[in-house]
Amino acid sequence: MDKFVINGPCKIKGNVSISGSKNASLPILAATLLFDKPVVIKNLPRVRDINTMLNLLKSLGSKIILSRDKKTAKIINKKNMKTFASYSLVKTMRGSILVLGPLISKHHQSKTSLPGGCLIGARPVNYHLESLKKLGMEYELKDGYILAKSKGRLIGTNINFPKISVGATENSIIAACLAKGKTILKNCAIEPEIKDLTNFLNKAGAKIKWSGRTCKIIGVNSLNKTEYSVMPDRIEAGTFCIAATLAKGNLQINNFNPRIIDTEIKVLKKFGSKIKTTENKIFIKGPQKIKSIKNIKTKEFPGIPTDLQAQLMVLMCKADGKSSITENIFENRFMHVAELQRLGAEINIKNNIAMIKGNTKFIGAELMSSDLRASVALVLAAIVSNGKSHINRIYHLDRGYEKIENKLKKIGVKIKRLK
Ligand code: EPZ
Repeated sequence: MDKFVINGPCKIKGNVSISGSKNASLPILAATLLFDKPVVIKNLPRVRDINTMLNLLKSLGSKIILSRDKKTAKIINKKNMKTFASYSLVKTMRGSILVLGPLISKHHQSKTSLPGGCLIGARPVNYHLESLKKLGMEYELKDGYILAKSKGRLIGTNINFPKISVGATENSIIAACLAKGKTILKNCAIEPEIKDLTNFLNKAGAKIKWSGRTCKIIGVNSLNKTEYSVMPDRIEAGTFCIAATLAKGNLQINNFNPRIIDTEIKVLKKFGSKIKTTENKIFIKGPQKIKSIKNIKTKEFPGIPTDLQAQLMVLMCKADGKSSITENIFENRFMHVAELQRLGAEINIKNNIAMIKGNTKFIGAELMSSDLRASVALVLAAIVSNGKSHINRIYHLDRGYEKIENKLKKIGVKIKRLK
């Protein structure tokens, strides 16, 4: 299993380009199952989760032609697609549950594996199932699979999500595109990746309109041939901005619309970073002394994203004073705390609140990755640690960060990947 070796502390300086968004690519690729005609998706990040989704589409019968740089996929579906999404594929990537909506909407049947939990939580899919059921899907759970079918075309209806859920919103929007009549979804998640999904579907002839957290979809009979370029990854951009704030960096982030991470930029300015922006660039200069922020709470968009919680915690360890971070989205997303403590962090956890002492002197150590975002937090901590750190099981990182060691090397980080 690959690992990283990082010799800290490192200064961060230079330019970085942001890859396509993993969490926009996954629902968009799943939604291609709605299409009869060829569809081209560009700016895909070259990360493991995208390969998993492409393999899942292939297993369902899609023909996929990848460009040489693997960032563009032309997807051609057959008339009679398979509708079996196997556990062997789904268990490696929970986002696979997003094929359920399009399969039931287009092919009126599906045997899709339940995704199962992961380290950050149980990750149930009850809101996905309840919403698709209201659209006309009948299902039973058997041997870890969702055996689903519908009596022909789904029927548009009104759905009010009991809780805001990114995946349930995406699955329902995709399914409603080909349903008969109008669907109104209330209390939707409104993450930028979901807007990217609906921009893609509307470009292919879907009829989707937003008003706040309400999404209205008028069903159509089919979608047109189209091509679409996926938005850049806001979590990657946020991670690099945090790195610059952490390591007294002087960083330029290219091909990224700063408005998407407006909340994060405001918070990083409170930590002391100087940030200037243009239409598609961010210039960030990290402070000599990182100010502490009393409490940060993760929330659904437009709040502070849970996917930056671990990275922000590293920043708080180095801030000048005590602070706390509250994780409101997932029930067990503090897996990185034990590893940060190995580097010297003083953090106490009470329920979903982590109290951080600040002014930590990180000393390099042997570390273990646990989930995608916790792994990148360990990389950030190693960058500002004194001495050598080994970060094991970085396959977690490869799921969602495209060649991160190359990007980090180019901005001054002394990092190498050992096979
Ligand atoms: C998406 O996961 C992202 N994944 C996650 O990113 C992200 O952390 C999360 O949204 C929150 O922003 C992708 O987009 C592929 P939710 P998702 O449904 O859709 C509970 C990463 O690192 N819930 O908004 O699974 C759930 O347990 C990943 O890239 C139910 O109870 O998130 C959680 O506590 C990690 N029942 C909360 O809602 C359901 O049916 C929010 O989950 C669905 C969700």
